[in-house]
Amino acid sequence: MRRPMVAGNWKMHGTRASVAELIEGLGKQVLPSDVDIVVMPPSLFINQVVVGLEGQAVAVGAQDAAIQAGQGALTGEIASTQLLDAGCSFVLVGHSERRQLIGEQDEVLNRKFAAIQESGLTPVLCIGETLEQREAGQTLAVVGQQLDSIIDAFGIDAFANAVIAYEPVWAIGTGLTASPQQAQEVHAAIRAQLAEKNAEVAQGVRLLYGGSVKSANAVELFGMPDIDGGLIGGASLNADEFGAICRAAGN
Ligand code: PGA
Repeated sequence: MRRPMVAGNWKMHGTRASVAELIEGLGKQVLPSDVDIVVMPPSLFINQVVVGLEGQAVAVGAQDAAIQAGQGALTGEIASTQLLDAGCSFVLVGHSERRQLIGEQDEVLNRKFAAIQESGLTPVLCIGETLEQREAGQTLAVVGQQLDSIIDAFGIDAFANAVIAYEPVWAIGTGLTASPQQAQEVHAAIRAQLAEKNAEVAQGVRLLYGGSVKSANAVELFGMPDIDGGLIGGASLNADEFGAICRAAGN
């Protein structure tokens, strides 16, 4: 059985004061013990969150990491070994906002993915199609290529210690959610693609859905056989809402 996971991607939101409020709000939540719960604040607030959530069963993750695992002369970047040292366990890689707005492409994403694993952290690989690609019937091809980029570079075993988040770009921050059936179809295809190389890895890897998840649609989405939890953006900034989504992933 795969253990469900819910991760909150805070994106570029927050101030010290609002982060303190969110930590306090999370502290009041009744959180399920059978779900891995992660929050991913801007790097600036990682320490504040790690300290503030001490003693709670909430892991901390980062939204990005440098192309090399170790420290070095790389102005403005943060090494994954530094994120590990700061108390992180997971790091996002390939989020569509970084692919589209920062221009990150496969080669850079592959290096980041490898650096994250090399440092002992778990990458959360984000993949997903745009609206144009979906309308052109290219969804499975696009997602398949994004997955193949990692498989071709590092082999299927790279997914023995990784999480995949399927996030249709048209559903991110738009209020439009993939229907549970639409999401399940893609998740099943992702798992089948992995299973062609290694059935055990495919069965074990957690596939999260992301894109306008809220407490009102979480139960239905998480009830699908190949959806193992969610990557939550906007709704993760509200502690009550995030707590409800985490409970929806529990049994
Ligand atoms: P959203 O973002 O929940 O605000 O749509 C999801 C994400 O980008 O991870």
